[in-house]
Amino acid sequence: MERLPGFRDFYPEPLPHNDVWSADARQHIFEQWRKVARRYGFREYDGPPLEPLELFTTKSGEEIVGQLFDFEDKGKRHVSLRPEMTPTLARMVAAHERNYKKPIKWFAIPQLFRYEKQQKGRLREHFQFNADLIGETDPAADAELIALLIDALRAFGLTAEDFVIRLSSRNAWQDFFKQGGGDPANEYEFFQTIDKLERNSPEETEQKLTALGFSAAAVNDFIAAGKPTAELASILENLAARGLKDFVKVDYKVIRGLAYYTGVVFEAFDRKGEFRAIAGGGRYNNLVKLISGGKVDLPALGFGMGDVVLVELLKARGLLPKFDSPMDVFVTIEDESLRGISLKLVQDLRVAGYAVDYPLVPTKPDKQFKRAQELKVAHTVRAESDAYVRIRNLKTREEVVAGFEGVANHLG
Ligand code: HAM
Repeated sequence: MERLPGFRDFYPEPLPHNDVWSADARQHIFEQWRKVARRYGFREYDGPPLEPLELFTTKSGEEIVGQLFDFEDKGKRHVSLRPEMTPTLARMVAAHERNYKKPIKWFAIPQLFRYEKQQKGRLREHFQFNADLIGETDPAADAELIALLIDALRAFGLTAEDFVIRLSSRNAWQDFFKQGGGDPANEYEFFQTIDKLERNSPEETEQKLTALGFSAAAVNDFIAAGKPTAELASILENLAARGLKDFVKVDYKVIRGLAYYTGVVFEAFDRKGEFRAIAGGGRYNNLVKLISGGKVDLPALGFGMGDVVLVELLKARGLLPKFDSPMDVFVTIEDESLRGISLKLVQDLRVAGYAVDYPLVPTKPDKQFKRAQELKVAHTVRAESDAYVRIRNLKTREEVVAGFEGVANHLG
């Protein structure tokens, strides 16, 4: 039986094949994400992987709605696997925001599902680090979140030479659209056209822009000028004060596909332009209000960073560590009459916090020793009688005999 296209199996290292995903690399990535989020004072939350369909059809936008894994459940509810975390977060915040001091700073590492065409950097399931800040309109919040994004990438050893945050603003585009006499009813379509500038052919873009009453030349000039809005200038200044100026640049080609963004938007890309976006986010000041049916109105912003492009990039830059998970101790059992006391030894050492393995069934001594080496243990321990054990340091080859109680003293 094959797994479904676009889904992954994660194997422990060493990997049996180049094409499979590493469970150890995944763990490493989650650990770095969690560490950085905590350094910035973000708390972890989670929600259900399955949600009512309307949560995603309300305001995520056509593109993502077309990719939903949705179905009718046995209770005749129309449900969907989550394609993103933001609507769930908006619902959760709206339900209990009174219990939390503002700004709310939360992060999550959900597995998300999108029925996309499988290609480099895009699968039908991925894990996404989400960090969101709710309850603050000042651009200082945007700068703080972007700093977190930069540090989340630096945690893997990536530098300003490897990636850049392209910073933009839907407000800037909104003004451009208004000043150019655009029909408000077409604004989202205009945003979608800008979002696809780099993916569609110049002819197709030109045709779309003309239909909306704009010239490609005016759009290109606006992008080339890249004049920061007051809000963007304030974010750049804030990041410069932290010494993070080299990680960001204003780039109005970024506008983001999702429908709920309201102001500042940004995406992280590798500098060489070999990969798809590593992360994307922005302000969504109306989503909490919309999802709570007008009951709660809180400004918000956040970003999502996927694990797929990140792993591709880290692999390409040689930044994934060598994963090896050595055990501490192998308890050898050469005399089966001592199996009972050996099991007690195994258990005591595990309770004391050591990673311990042993032969499950009677096994020849040379095979046991080979297994101990494969597990890269630092020590082997063997019960010699019901009172004494022999401890061997595999590196120094030193051996000591100790009483049962004293084993830990010799394990370092
Ligand atoms: P997004 O741009 O749709 O934003 O996704 C964020 C990141 O998730 C992308 O840059 C990419 O790395 C990864 N990603 C998305 N789709 C896939 C896929 N099919 N396969 C692999 N990786 C993928 C959002 O989802 C927003 N909800 C982020 C956000 C949080 N905005 C505010 N708060």
